[in-house]
Amino acid sequence: MTVSATSDIIARAVEVLRENDQGAYTIPTKGLYPFQWNWDSCLTALGLAHYDEARAWTEIETLFAHQWPDGMVPHIVFHVWNDGYFPGPEVWRTGRPTATSGITQPAVAGFAARRLFDRANDKKLAAERARALLPKIDAWHRWFYENRDPKGEGLVAIIHPWESGRDNSIDWDDAFERVPTEGVEPYTRRDTLHADPAHRPTREQYDRYIWLVQHFRGLGWDNARLHNASPFQVVDPGFNAILIRAAADLADLAETLGETEIAAANRARAKKGLVAMERLWSDVHGQYLCLDRITGELIDSASVGGILPAFAAIPKPRAAAIAATVERLAGKARYVVPSHDPGDPRFDAKRYWRGPVWLVVNYMISDGLAAAGHGKVAQRITQSSLDLIRESGFAEYYDPLTGEPLGGGRFTWTAAMVIEFLRNAS
Ligand code: GLC
Repeated sequence: MTVSATSDIIARAVEVLRENDQGAYTIPTKGLYPFQWNWDSCLTALGLAHYDEARAWTEIETLFAHQWPDGMVPHIVFHVWNDGYFPGPEVWRTGRPTATSGITQPAVAGFAARRLFDRANDKKLAAERARALLPKIDAWHRWFYENRDPKGEGLVAIIHPWESGRDNSIDWDDAFERVPTEGVEPYTRRDTLHADPAHRPTREQYDRYIWLVQHFRGLGWDNARLHNASPFQVVDPGFNAILIRAAADLADLAETLGETEIAAANRARAKKGLVAMERLWSDVHGQYLCLDRITGELIDSASVGGILPAFAAIPKPRAAAIAATVERLAGKARYVVPSHDPGDPRFDAKRYWRGPVWLVVNYMISDGLAAAGHGKVAQRITQSSLDLIRESGFAEYYDPLTGEPLGGGRFTWTAAMVIEFLRNAS
């Protein structure tokens, strides 16, 4: 790409970020998602740093200002009232000073903080801001292993599909059958007003999402009880790999800043997690799979959740097999990495997380593959991501076969990732 084409795309990406900037946090996009989302914010901070390092730190700090006393960082912070999204605070009823949801999301904060720090031009500012965040991120990591890994296996479970960040993945279908739909209070969805219903979850799936929220609410949002009381407990390899990478990054950052206890605790978490991940490997699929903690069985669903572990320091042969899997997927889909294997009859090119490409996921996979020495495959992912932007703009997600933009438009983290891709490519 020419220098002027690159700077033109970056300028357009910055415009999207500014448009969705609320001052101390960003919203994912106007209309569909009018609040602060956890992993969106942490990844968006990387894009913000491109033009305002102090503002980038603020993005993560605002999120952590709403951390729960037990250490959990909620998946949504409802800073200001808006009736454009369901389920809103009146459904969650978590009793927090500023309303938040009651579940969490992938723990990218540790990774983002380290990357911001490493790249900072203003090292003094970065050290100050990172030092204040360290104990908070550490407390979140501790929370995960205490509350979501009650038997100390080294792997944490999600108790609601929305925690995975891959909300509507095929991975959850079978385990989700166990979630009842009786007793769900009447509700009106808002997502289908902003996006094509054919690209969104079905009514039955939505009932189950809400049943779980009501169930957890009935238990007073007491995290010590929720895991065992949930009919849905799934160990997601992507989710765990992100936590493992974040723990390793937090350990490095803590070491640099002289916080040896935090460093040691996170180093141990990452080490134990990496060993435990082996249990999720599938030779047949050449990737990791989810584990249903209630049945104790692996879930036969080749989703991008099992490719995402390339983001963590997995064993070399595993990274090589994943690189080969991405190449195989590139033979089936024009744009990689599809969120589900197009060869699976359940693949749906347009329904969210059941086929479409997401740039945040691409970013993490290519980052990990490049670090593991698979630069060519990483480059292929970057190329697909930039092609999508050039052809279809800053969408929420894209059809991997046609490149059609799907879901919400003018999307914050998509714009942030484009800046990242271009910066790495130059
Ligand atoms: C959807 C995505 C989730 C994201 C949120 C806001 O719910 O599945 O990962 O955090 O939108 O962009």
